[in-house]
Amino acid sequence: MTAYAKVIGTGGYLPAEIKSNDDISKIVDTTDSWIFERTGIRNRRIAAADETTSSMAEIAARQAIEMADIAPNEIDLIIVATGTPENVYPGAACMLQYRLGIKNGVAFDIQAACSGSIFGLDIANQYIKSGAAKTVLVVGTEINSRITDWTDRGTCILFGDGAGAILLLTSEEPGVLSTHIHSDGRFEDLLSCPNPQAQGNPDTTGYISMKGNEVFKVAVNTLGRIVDETLAANNMQKTDVDWLVPHQANIRIITGTAKKLKMSMNQVVVTLEEQGNTSSASVLLAFNEAVRDGRIQRGHIVLLEAFGAGFTWGSALIKY
Ligand code: UT7
Repeated sequence: MTAYAKVIGTGGYLPAEIKSNDDISKIVDTTDSWIFERTGIRNRRIAAADETTSSMAEIAARQAIEMADIAPNEIDLIIVATGTPENVYPGAACMLQYRLGIKNGVAFDIQAACSGSIFGLDIANQYIKSGAAKTVLVVGTEINSRITDWTDRGTCILFGDGAGAILLLTSEEPGVLSTHIHSDGRFEDLLSCPNPQAQGNPDTTGYISMKGNEVFKVAVNTLGRIVDETLAANNMQKTDVDWLVPHQANIRIITGTAKKLKMSMNQVVVTLEEQGNTSSASVLLAFNEAVRDGRIQRGHIVLLEAFGAGFTWGSALIKY
């Protein structure tokens, strides 16, 4: 019997505070029209002082658990993808496990920047297919606003805070059809966020730095290739895909991928206008939104993809 990872619940959380392009244009030399035309972003959410990556993860996770109608204790693996954990350790996944009152199973973090939720889905899928886990919670959660240099107009316009969750259960029916993850560690100088204390350099700041234009070009090419790889692995045609749920980095990257798939933008889930780039949370936030508003229906074929620092990139093809 083949075991598949079936989606049984999704959740999402966005902090209340909204920072608009106009708000940012009061801090750095930019305009609403420049930001919107070049990125597709109008607003992003900012976590409150008392919020943490694990507190936001808990809200998204509880929504997914409620949708799935299971007891938290049935979850035997928790994977949290984040680049902004509140502690170096204990990991955000252990903090979340405690918040959910789960004492069994195992919880661990992964760090794959903006591709984190896809990497999490890949690991969850392997655990379920091998029989090593039965019920797996994957959460992407980020407080990017705290690692953003608010004097750098090349990056502070892009990022936002939020958490997305997905709950997977072993099933005889699909399910996750395939996952594909990759990395190439040559590109630290194009996109990075240092950890000054761990580097023995506590005087430098731990902010995101990015050569946006160069990252953009690699992202467009790489995402084109991952689409081909995913379809070929499943013996599928472009027309077999009902929904594209892309990482929300830049509307021009998203439209490029949709064009490659010959998909209308009506089949693409776009959240970045109101949320910006929430890194590892973005794909799961978008997936949750489209499930909850009824766009993604049972039986639909959904292609999720992401690209991020590392570089890391990947995709997941899901029969919802
Ligand atoms: O999620 C992980 C992956 N990340 C990404 O995929 C991000 C990919 N990169 C991008 O989304 C885009 O490169 C940006 C939105 C970051 C920048 O857009 P761009 O079209 O690539 O602009 P650019 O960096 O080539 O800069 C063009 C011009 C420059 O001015 P000059 O040298 O032509 O006079 C910049 O200084 O735009 C200027 N500029 C701005 N102007 C107004 C850069 N940022 C801003 C700004 N407001 N915020």
